[in-house]
Amino acid sequence: MWDEALLRRYDTSGPRYTSYPTALSFHDQFTPDDLTQALKRSNASKRSLSLYVHVPFCRKICYYCACNKIATKNTALAEPYIARLDREMVLTARHLDTSRTVEQLHWGGGTPTFLNLNQMGDLIDRLDARFGLSSSVDRDYAIEIDPREADVFTLRHLQSLGFNRISLGVQDLSPLVQKAINRIQPRVLTETLMDEAHRLGFRSLNLDLIYGLPFQTEKSFANTLRQVIELNPARLSVFNYAHMPERFAPSGVSMSMTCRVAKRNWRFCVPPLKCSLRQATCISVWITLPGLTIASPLPSAKVRYSAIFKATPAMLSAI
Ligand SMILES: C[S@@+](CC[C@H](N)C(=O)[O-])C[C@H]1O[C@@H](n2cnc3c(N)ncnc32)[C@H](O)[C@@H]1O
Ligand code: SF4
Repeated sequence: MWDEALLRRYDTSGPRYTSYPTALSFHDQFTPDDLTQALKRSNASKRSLSLYVHVPFCRKICYYCACNKIATKNTALAEPYIARLDREMVLTARHLDTSRTVEQLHWGGGTPTFLNLNQMGDLIDRLDARFGLSSSVDRDYAIEIDPREADVFTLRHLQSLGFNRISLGVQDLSPLVQKAINRIQPRVLTETLMDEAHRLGFRSLNLDLIYGLPFQTEKSFANTLRQVIELNPARLSVFNYAHMPERFAPSGVSMSMTCRVAKRNWRFCVPPLKCSLRQATCISVWITLPGLTIASPLPSAKVRYSAIFKATPAMLSAI
């Protein structure tokens, strides 16, 4: 069903859905007592449990990324992290009625598949020991996977650990866009994992895309969409690019250093970029200039923009 009104209603910047509460909702005023009370209310509800585990490591950083992550290639770093997660689980489980079924489990990131197979098994064992995992066919156990860092063996292992849903990050299939966002990911990587996931019988498969990235045009994104639809995922998440350099500065480089324009100027670009218009109401104004991308310094955190655009030189000359 294509519901234009619904699309417009949710075409806005907002935290992504997987972690709850979302990153923007965390604040210092939440006390230990607030947590205990919240867990008590949860027990009183008698509803089944949903657990979210954040694995904040990535081998390489994508320039657009607004996830809570740490760049490292050292998988040993995950060991103390898992130990601390376990401590957290023990503390939480003390206040939680763990006789309730764990109906949903979600590993997000960062990149959960940064963990090696043993570490994944270890984490599942600890979750099982603290909360008792379910083997019901109705369970929803999902994991976010970066197709550049997983193979068919990873999928088999994940299935044996109890995962039955997977989500693969794709973002865009254009090589030009992939270069600008520091994420080279040939389509075949995604395709191979999808084939294997279908073969293994994973219950649900999602692909993540982002619109609003540098060098994307309506035409190029339509091409990505066409290819992705050919791959036939059960679900697509199409995110509106959230530009948050103040929160997530990727180590001194901007994913698209651009020329700044006064707010009023972006309106000139509207006819060729009508898709971006909706996004312009909610993010900030940049015009990306081919040739000026990558490895430029981030703009000052104080600079405020009012919309984001991608424009070709031809479009710029119309301004
Ligand atoms: C934790 S990542 C997915 C797993 C894995 N790390 C990967 O990249 O394949 C979550 C998803 O959030 C989306 N995302 C990240 N930063 C974003 C941003 N600034 N704006 C919109 N979506 C973003 C991407 O679609 C990404 O696939
Ligand atoms: S999009 Fe995924 S792989 Fe890229 S930096 Fe963010 S969490 Fe890491």
